[in-house]
Amino acid sequence: MRASRLPLLWRVFAINAALLAVATLLLAVTPVTIHAPIALVEAVVLVAGLLAMLAANLLLLRPTFAPLERLVRRMRTVDLLRPGQRLVEEGGLEVAELVRGFNEMLERLEAERRESSRRALAAQEAERARVAAELHDEVGQVLTGVLLQLDSLPLGASAAVEIDETKQAVRLALDEVRRIAQELRPAMLDHLGLPSALTELAARFEEHTGLPVERRLASSLPRLSPDGELAVYRVAQESLTNVARHARASRVELALEPGAGSVVLRVRDDGRGFEHPPDGGGLRGMRERAVLVGGALAVKAGPTGGVEVRLEVPAEER
Ligand SMILES: Nc1ncnc2c1ncn2[C@@H]1O[C@H](COP(=O)(O)OP(=O)(O)OP(=O)(O)O)[C@@H](O)[C@H]1O
Ligand SMILES: [Mg+2]
Repeated sequence: MRASRLPLLWRVFAINAALLAVATLLLAVTPVTIHAPIALVEAVVLVAGLLAMLAANLLLLRPTFAPLERLVRRMRTVDLLRPGQRLVEEGGLEVAELVRGFNEMLERLEAERRESSRRALAAQEAERARVAAELHDEVGQVLTGVLLQLDSLPLGASAAVEIDETKQAVRLALDEVRRIAQELRPAMLDHLGLPSALTELAARFEEHTGLPVERRLASSLPRLSPDGELAVYRVAQESLTNVARHARASRVELALEPGAGSVVLRVRDDGRGFEHPPDGGGLRGMRERAVLVGGALAVKAGPTGGVEVRLEVPAEER
């Protein structure tokens, strides 16, 4: 057993025993005598000896407890949204044991967290898909039926204008229902793949906000899992929504590029940026999705002002 692997009790005991032995030895070999009542010089020597021993004690004990202090600091700052942080096993037996226990606890917490976010996101996506299907199939059908009925009305000259206006309103409602359904569940993603779905997303964003989106969507990309694709799509969607809501930008860049065995999404605006490190439901959701697909998300100030969101998702293993 290495000295540093001694139990904490024995390390402290050994240090103190060594100091006491040294003090005893010094008393034995040096001509120090103590009288009662104590003389001033003797008192000074005694106090100096005591101080020297205390200082030595502190110096020798410090390294023993330093790993414990580091452990506490690390426990306070560990961030479950940045998984994979582990402490080095160091220090005496108990401290190393504590670090091992802490690392194992992190492992379990991260696994548990991954599982619960996965379940929450899957439930959310399933619910969105259900609402999208209902909107599209039920409400869409009813509105289409109304349009057909309006078309088949006998054209009385007096009501023709009103009927036309009603048809126009129904058509608008139909478009809106389709748009909402599309946003809830991007059918494009399932049928035409990520670049097409992002192109469509950008087009709708431009139409809605009047902001031009500069698209750099590589056509040949490493393959992502369906969850990975959905994560990229949802992060792009939330980032664009944030640009529209917060950035006051004049242009946006939406890039999808191949990385090293990964796919990299970048959404960059030239807006006012943020004053504080931002934290909201949207960003937290993005982070959670990134963690879940083993990706990395960074939200930071863009190179020329504004905000840059970057998501890297590892490609699916073959
Ligand atoms: N592109 C951006 N430009 C400027 N500020 C931004 C940008 N994106 C985010 N922010 C800031 O970061 C904050 C957090 O964003 P986040 O998406 O988490 O929340 P939110 O958009 O306010 O609400 P929601 O939960 O509905 O998304 C925003 O309130 C905003 O102040
Ligand atoms: Mg938001």
